[in-house]
Amino acid sequence: MRDLCVETLKPMGFETVAADSGARALEILESGPTDIVLSDIRMPRMGGIELLKTIKQTYPEIDVVMMTGFGTIAGSVEAMKMGAYDYVTKPFVIEDFKEIFLRLAKKQDLTRVNRLLREQLNARRGYAGIVGTSASMQKMFRMILKAAPKRHPVLILGESGTGKELVARAIHAHSPWKDKPFVAIDCGALTSALIDCELFGHVRGAFTGADSARQGLLASAQGGTVLLDEFAELPTELQTKLLRALQEHEIRLVGGNLWTHLEARIIAATNQDMGAAIQRGSVRRDLFYRLNVLTINVPPLRERKSDIPALAHDFINRHGGGEGSMTAISDDAINRMMTYNWPGNVRELENCIQRALVLGSGQVIEAKDLPPPLLYQNPNERKENPKLKELERRAIMEALQAAGGECQRASKMLGIGKTTIYRKVRKYGLENFTGLTRSA
Ligand SMILES: Nc1ncnc2c1ncn2[C@@H]1O[C@H](COP(=O)(O)OP(=O)(O)O)[C@@H](O)[C@H]1O
Ligand SMILES: [Mg+2]
Repeated sequence: MRDLCVETLKPMGFETVAADSGARALEILESGPTDIVLSDIRMPRMGGIELLKTIKQTYPEIDVVMMTGFGTIAGSVEAMKMGAYDYVTKPFVIEDFKEIFLRLAKKQDLTRVNRLLREQLNARRGYAGIVGTSASMQKMFRMILKAAPKRHPVLILGESGTGKELVARAIHAHSPWKDKPFVAIDCGALTSALIDCELFGHVRGAFTGADSARQGLLASAQGGTVLLDEFAELPTELQTKLLRALQEHEIRLVGGNLWTHLEARIIAATNQDMGAAIQRGSVRRDLFYRLNVLTINVPPLRERKSDIPALAHDFINRHGGGEGSMTAISDDAINRMMTYNWPGNVRELENCIQRALVLGSGQVIEAKDLPPPLLYQNPNERKENPKLKELERRAIMEALQAAGGECQRASKMLGIGKTTIYRKVRKYGLENFTGLTRSA
């Protein structure tokens, strides 16, 4: 019977291996990938059901077809319950037998295609979670892939909140040293003496209170990647030191005299206009040239508005969740996002969604859940000096926002009476921001 099965399956294009026992079958599975197992139910020593159970536990992706003797319906029912794909009853008509395997092959092809699609999707999202299908983002992804395998420094330019750190992480994640550390240091957040020690490390007694030596971040990255975020904030003497490190690939502990090899890959990021910074003298021209070999420009959000819906959904997925949480966003809300200018870029968009998730109610983020700047965005009105009335309208709107649409809470925040706020809400047509309905 075993030989007959093999002879039938082979010409159909299946690569077949025969096993004379359950134990032997498991050995074969262990030795390489297998798509389908055909097994008899009644076998000496390890029975077919036991084999099926083991396979489903260890290799859940393998499809198992069971073979049962005539009149053992109970066995086949149990097999199906245990996760068998199908069963053949002996004696069988060859055509029926073939039919099962053809169907199975088709199903497995589909699974493979789906898996491939999923992997492609992950790959597209796989730039360390950078969302973006706009042409400018696709161009940036290509730059990331180009830069990743090289050891040269990378310069990332872009406004605040555009995702420069994400880009740096993506470069690291696609580099051959992705298993080594990724270390980010915010150069704007530390005093120059501290950054010096943070970056290069120091020997014992290098300064008062340094009672032990410490490795710097450049060394601690151990062949990984170091991101110098807001590097333009570095004092110029440190820029000189950094330039030397980049040129000579050597670093020295603060207070020490031993040079060691610099192994880490340096990525520098800044939101500053390099031309102006060099002109001002706050960024050294030679350091800029050294860094400017591979430059990645991260476009501001207002220049790639087509990415907004995907980003909004991504943040809802990322920050939402939990019981009764919001899962969608209304068209109206998206429209307002599309017309907004996003001075704070993706970071502002992320905050905006997080805020809506906290303040809003129901399943869908509505326009009223968005922060005031998005709701109130007539650029002409914003530029001219708003009249007192307009200020009042805006104050009420913002209070309603903060109060989640509850007039009573908003009135308390504004220090006005309940009846007054109802009246003003109607006067200014702000019913949409409250639980009230617009009266005729
Ligand atoms: N394209 C993007 N896809 C998903 N999240 C993003 C994207 N760009 C930025 N973010 C998110 O926005 C926030 C700000 O990004 P960040 O890299 O810190 O900006 P930058 O360093 O340019 O100021 C982070 O929470 C980041 O995860
Ligand atoms: Mg940053």
